[in-house]
Amino acid sequence: DRGIKAMKIVVLNGSPKGDTSVTMQYVAYIRKKFPDHRYEILNVAADIRKIEKDAAAWNTTLDSVRSADLVLWAFPLYYLVVCSQYKRFIELVFERKAQDAFAGTYASSLSTSIHFFDQTAHAYIHAISDDLGMKYLGFYSAEMRDLLQDEERKRLEKFVSLLFTAVQEKVPVQRENAPLVWPAITYIPGPHQKIQETGSKKVVILTDSDGSSPNLFVMTDRLYKTFSGSVEMINLHDINMKGGCLGCCQCGYDNTCVYTDGYIDFFRNKLLPADIIIMAGSVHDRYLSSTWKQFFDRSFFRGHIPNFKGKQIGFVIAGPLHQVPVLKEALTAWADNGGCNAQFVTDEVSGSGELDLLLDAMATRILQCAESGYIPPHTFYAVGGHKIFRDNIYGGMRIAFQADYRYYKEHGMFDFPQADLKTRLFNALLIPLLRIPGFRKKVFADMKYHMVQPFESVLKSA
Ligand SMILES: Cc1cc2nc3c(=O)[nH]c(=O)nc-3n(C[C@H](O)[C@H](O)[C@H](O)COP(=O)(O)O)c2cc1C
Repeated sequence: DRGIKAMKIVVLNGSPKGDTSVTMQYVAYIRKKFPDHRYEILNVAADIRKIEKDAAAWNTTLDSVRSADLVLWAFPLYYLVVCSQYKRFIELVFERKAQDAFAGTYASSLSTSIHFFDQTAHAYIHAISDDLGMKYLGFYSAEMRDLLQDEERKRLEKFVSLLFTAVQEKVPVQRENAPLVWPAITYIPGPHQKIQETGSKKVVILTDSDGSSPNLFVMTDRLYKTFSGSVEMINLHDINMKGGCLGCCQCGYDNTCVYTDGYIDFFRNKLLPADIIIMAGSVHDRYLSSTWKQFFDRSFFRGHIPNFKGKQIGFVIAGPLHQVPVLKEALTAWADNGGCNAQFVTDEVSGSGELDLLLDAMATRILQCAESGYIPPHTFYAVGGHKIFRDNIYGGMRIAFQADYRYYKEHGMFDFPQADLKTRLFNALLIPLLRIPGFRKKVFADMKYHMVQPFESVLKSA
């Protein structure tokens, strides 16, 4: 890299912890290894209040971005995406129409995490970079402890070296995410066909409606009026949430959050008792609002336990959800990991009549699912997620997340294969036997019969 023109690299730090952040250790390492460039680190997540309120702070931030040859989005993963504070910064850029400060500049992203949905976070930042007219050169997703290993440090150096070379050689970049086209309809609901009795089920409709999306307001209003019985509509702006998760991890010990605002009571007393939670929001850039993100991030005080296990979730979205696969994926995966059943309705429809039918169908269906207690089998999202959490909570994260450890232990969630004695015994017996050529030949010749044999008794007694 030496001998090449010095570049200015602006790092947008997405950790609420500011300088004392795991992610920033990676940036510090990069600076040491590539000292010929100028680096500026902007703590946009930690300083979001100031950046939002103070015009001078906002302008200085934008001036720095304008001066960059490369913008590095460097952030920790927070609930499958970035933290709410970083999300707010991104929202401000669009709200204040400051895209020009970013346009035309090269961008890349660097995250630290435990690899739980790191791909969605980078897909989000990629799409944001595209929307800002930046030239996105790919991402580096480090497991938070990677930097401690020689091999991983070398890998990071290779990535950075190639990245810097690409910027200096001004490589062309193709836009991957098409600009969003918003649904054109103004939703005017018709009369209800049927009112749904909630019976023994509790319904909570959570919305972040703030008047900016009339369709969102009308959609939730219709749903609210579709239910009769135990139904409550709660606006996230009214629950007295004082701020975003700080990542301090003090909750890990016994689930006590450092905040003493309204969130904890609301979570415990309103959400946990609900059978059906309808989550309503509109698309803001390539996710929901930063308020919704704050809701998700703050639920971290409960650690990595499936809080909403067994609940029915209805996502009611205003805006082009189906053009933002990463948002659909993040919400679906969140529900799957929580042990929930999720349904979606959006205003991407041809007319109000169609939306009436879809919302009514959601109300009917969600009650049917709640009554039958139907939760779909986990998909890869939660099957994979469980193994990541299980291994970390058993191992490296156990000290910080003792409440999780107790919960996992009590609920039999340390289901490592080595704990499955029957399979171990079977393996110990069969593997040596399979070394005998005649026996092996027979077993493999009949493999498909061996595979269906265990189902025989179930089918007989069904
Ligand atoms: C509220 C919260 C949510 C998190 N969500 C995720 C996640 O979805 N996926 C993941 O792999 N790690 C997640 N993490 C772990 C952090 O991304 C990881 O510890 C990171 O290295 C912290 O970096 P920092 O010190 O720079 O903030 C989460 C941590 C917190 C505090």
